[in-house]
Amino acid sequence: MKLCYLKAAVLLLNQGHLVVAAIPSNKTSWQQYVVAPQNRKIVPSSILSQSGNVSNADALVSGNGVTRLSRADVQTTFPSWPSGTTANASSEAAPNTDNGVPRTYYASNAIDGNLTTFWNDNTPAQYPDTLTITSPTQVTLDGVTLESSTDGVPVDFIIETWDGSNWTEAGSITGNNATRCRVPFSQNITTNQVRLTVTQDQAGSKGEYTRVTELWPALVADDSAVPEIVLDFGKNVVGFLQIDFASGSNNAPGIQLAFSETLQYLTSVSDFSRSDNGDTITPGTDQIAVPAAPLNWTDTYGCTYNGNQVCADGIHGFRYLKISLNALSSDAPYTSPSGFVDINSVSLNFTAYLGTLSSYSGWFECSDQQLNEFWYDAAYTNEMVIDTFLADTVDPRNSASPSLLGKQVIFDGAKRDRDPYVGDIAVSGRTAYLTHQDASNAMLNVLADLAEHQSSNGWIPPASINNYTLPLFDYPFWWVTSTWDYILYTGDIAQVTSYYPNLQSVLDTWAPSVTDNTTGLLSKPSSYGDYAFLSRSGIVTYYNTLYVLALSSAANLANALNQSSDASRWQQRADAVSQAINENLWDSASGAYLDDSTVSTRHGQDGNGIAVLSGVANNTRAQSALDYLANKTALAYGNAFMDDDSLVSDGSSRVYAFTSYFDIQARFLTGNADSALDEIRRLYGWMAQSDPGVTFWEGIGANGSAYEGAFTSKAHGWSTGVLPALTNYVLGLMPTGPGYQHFSIAPSFPKDVSWARGQEATRYGVVYVEWSMENGTATVSFTAPNGTVADVTVPKGSEVVLDGTVVWSVDNQTVSGVPVQENADSITVSDVSSGQHTVVSE
Ligand SMILES: *[C@@H]1O[C@H](CO)[C@@H](O)[C@H](O)[C@H]1NC(C)=O
Ligand SMILES: *[C@@H]1O[C@H](CO)[C@@H](O)[C@H](O)[C@H]1NC(C)=O
Ligand SMILES: *[C@@H]1O[C@H](CO)[C@@H](O)[C@H](O)[C@H]1NC(C)=O
Ligand SMILES: *[C@@H]1O[C@H](CO)[C@@H](O)[C@H](O)[C@H]1NC(C)=O
Ligand SMILES: *[C@@H]1O[C@H](CO)[C@@H](O)[C@H](O)[C@H]1NC(C)=O
Ligand SMILES: *[C@@H]1O[C@H](CO)[C@@H](O)[C@H](O)[C@H]1NC(C)=O
Ligand SMILES: *[C@@H]1O[C@H](CO)[C@@H](O)[C@H](O)[C@H]1NC(C)=O
Ligand SMILES: *[C@@H]1O[C@H](CO)[C@@H](O)[C@H](O)[C@H]1NC(C)=O
Ligand SMILES: *[C@@H]1O[C@H](CO)[C@@H](O)[C@H](O)[C@H]1NC(C)=O
Ligand SMILES: *[C@@H]1O[C@H](CO)[C@@H](O)[C@H](O)[C@H]1NC(C)=O
Ligand SMILES: *[C@@H]1O[C@H](CO)[C@@H](O)[C@H](O)[C@H]1NC(C)=O
Ligand SMILES: *[C@@H]1O[C@H](CO)[C@@H](O)[C@H](O)[C@H]1NC(C)=O
Repeated sequence: MKLCYLKAAVLLLNQGHLVVAAIPSNKTSWQQYVVAPQNRKIVPSSILSQSGNVSNADALVSGNGVTRLSRADVQTTFPSWPSGTTANASSEAAPNTDNGVPRTYYASNAIDGNLTTFWNDNTPAQYPDTLTITSPTQVTLDGVTLESSTDGVPVDFIIETWDGSNWTEAGSITGNNATRCRVPFSQNITTNQVRLTVTQDQAGSKGEYTRVTELWPALVADDSAVPEIVLDFGKNVVGFLQIDFASGSNNAPGIQLAFSETLQYLTSVSDFSRSDNGDTITPGTDQIAVPAAPLNWTDTYGCTYNGNQVCADGIHGFRYLKISLNALSSDAPYTSPSGFVDINSVSLNFTAYLGTLSSYSGWFECSDQQLNEFWYDAAYTNEMVIDTFLADTVDPRNSASPSLLGKQVIFDGAKRDRDPYVGDIAVSGRTAYLTHQDASNAMLNVLADLAEHQSSNGWIPPASINNYTLPLFDYPFWWVTSTWDYILYTGDIAQVTSYYPNLQSVLDTWAPSVTDNTTGLLSKPSSYGDYAFLSRSGIVTYYNTLYVLALSSAANLANALNQSSDASRWQQRADAVSQAINENLWDSASGAYLDDSTVSTRHGQDGNGIAVLSGVANNTRAQSALDYLANKTALAYGNAFMDDDSLVSDGSSRVYAFTSYFDIQARFLTGNADSALDEIRRLYGWMAQSDPGVTFWEGIGANGSAYEGAFTSKAHGWSTGVLPALTNYVLGLMPTGPGYQHFSIAPSFPKDVSWARGQEATRYGVVYVEWSMENGTATVSFTAPNGTVADVTVPKGSEVVLDGTVVWSVDNQTVSGVPVQENADSITVSDVSSGQHTVVSE
């Protein structure tokens, strides 16, 4: 015994030295990874491009001086041919109906003075296409101007005039790409016929056609180009844009704003606007009528005139902003597309949770810089979706709910999906608790509101959208797990007690009503959807494993409220459902759980991941299923959420960080930390290095693209699972009883991470943990506040020492009184009381 103490003391000294060597002494070094803005007023970080008549654009970044956009008057009256002029073409497309509007494509449309109509040839990619104009009287021309439709721009063409006996070339153009193309003649020509011969067109969306809107008998000034400035805010941000206008010309010049999270989808129309979700007050750009007098303009939802003119969307989530001097013709006479505008400054009023250094109640740092970056990028992604629920900022608009107005909530996405969905909170809630405890009400407000909107049949709605009627099948169970998470991470049992009857009702009334009574498994009616509106019905592994997870969470919650008979009833049901899943849904040929009992080819990341998390899969099946998924679904940008394309056409190329979180946790839980980190590095590395950088996306599609194109949200709280995964499994800190009253420290000691440290605020005080691993010696040190108890798990070596006392050794030289549990390849020292402790395993 004495020998052991001596040996332990020596070890500790060594360890003390090693710890100093391995873990940097600066305990605030985690702060270097924080990416949130310093304050709510955000100014652009750079000008990416400018075009047209723009001066001093840099002032928008430097703050020095005034930026001017100006544009000459746009011509609205045009030259015309003498009355009686005719036009003939080599061919004419037949009249048809386009979007319900009847259209013609006659040659005469090119001389009718109407900019809506055009001549369209009928021979795509065949040349030449000719248009001959014949005037009843002679005209004198110094040139002509060809106005074409964007979908049929002539690239190479010549203009000839008739000199009485011959056609003579008067001008030729090659390589044109402009819709308005001037063809000057070298001298004035008097003629009664002009012929256009096209030998190449641009390939448009409808094919390679010539589409001439007008061929004017004169040189028409090019409309001066639309002045544009593209601003980069440096990272994804969310809030209300503000523009401080110094002045404008006295014709109410128009400013149009197009927002985008990525450069790929930055066009003259926002990557997403409310017009994409049914609210069409804007055509995808926000409009401003700039007055001559100074104006501080804030992007506010609504219209400045008549309820339908000069309109804006209000809040935006974006990184890039295109500012143009232009106006919609439908906004006349309140704005015009010309004049000048002087801008003092452009800034964003950031409305979401401001993650300053002092706002971090919990933090994380380890020896791997990239993992640290992922942790703080996830924190910022989540901050972007914590905001006040306002009728004018939710999306879609029909998500607005009187019972949530004015409350702090956690939305799904920043630019889009601005409605709190409880399945998303299963991930984003944990991220919030682990970073900013003072945002806990955001989760409570949503959980409580959804409970208050429970149906009489026990079903709990996923969100406020459609007046709480969107029929999702999985989200009632996420309500259960998220409610337990709220208690685990905050300890705030009192707030949740009144919702206990809702918990009983969802599990004891609704779940049985959708249970297949032959197997005891949930059977989803086709009228319900799920997290991705997947067309799976009947007995599906994901819903059932999630059901088991919910039942176990509910049992824990019931125990916390001293409802032990419910607890044991729900745990028994969890066990019975687990057994039924194993009997009905295991595919022994593949060594993984089937996605759907009726489809023998498909295996899902969601069902298999949660099978491990919920304990449905024993060790053999867990390892087999995780190996199967790693082998079948790994992509450069994460693991696909299905192993084939039978459910959705991109099943094996679509990646959800949401479902990947289950997979990643499952790998950590089963001793596959290296495979978990491999998945994390592919998935989060891909997103972190792709535009817009930092924030994590709603979903990833083929080849690592945004899975729903411009519509995809690039900042989605449900994709922040890397943060709880790193805290829970790399640092190893996890609450196991309400508010960390009981918690575990069980680092996974990944091969390529040599140390980690971090802390969490709890209702009892701060828990601080650090560990290092060097030359096979693991050292875990922690400080726990009064009222808490910890279980510490370290690798099984030759002995384990707690605060200098050997508490376990291979040769059984243990000190009594300390409960120690020997696992397959680890040792758990249980019920370590509050205070400062060090556990060493070598
Ligand atoms: C510790 O790290 C933080 C963040 O990188 C830095 O701001 C601070 O200066 C460092 N302190 C010391 C004493 O090096
Ligand atoms: C221009 O053509 C369109 C389409 O045929 C028609 O609806 C419109 O009334 C015309 N405009 C004028 C001024 O004739
Ligand atoms: C050429 O024709 C244009 C337009 O018809 C006219 O304005 C201009 O005066 C003419 N120039 C000469 C040199 O005749
Ligand atoms: C018309 O072209 C032909 C052949 O190039 C030429 O012989 C003839 O002289 C031209 N006629 C006139 C009026 O220029
Ligand atoms: C059109 O051509 C000009 C000159 O080559 C080029 O600068 C411009 O980018 C092109 N525009 C488009 C839309 O292709
Ligand atoms: C606009 O706000 C700025 C400060 O942000 C202030 O200096 C300026 O006077 C304001 N202009 C008007 C017209 O209120
Ligand atoms: C920013 O927006 C918030 C929320 O709408 C508002 O309370 C605040 O006054 C705004 N700040 C500025 C400077 O306009
Ligand atoms: C939403 O549903 C509730 C309860 O059915 C009803 O009282 C309320 O009028 C509905 N609200 C709207 C906007 O339809
Ligand atoms: C299973 O039994 C319950 C009653 O325990 C019933 O409510 C439910 O409808 C049954 N399920 C099916 C699919 O018939
Ligand atoms: C897991 O379950 C399967 C099927 O019942 C069984 O064959 C296997 O031995 C079990 N593995 C463990 C580790 O219990
Ligand atoms: C693939 O599965 C085998 C076991 O069948 C396993 O040894 C291997 O590590 C797996 N591959 C990956 C990439 O996980
Ligand atoms: C750990 O191993 C390294 C490399 O072999 C060695 O330099 C170091 O002294 C070792 N540390 C201890 C405590 O043995």
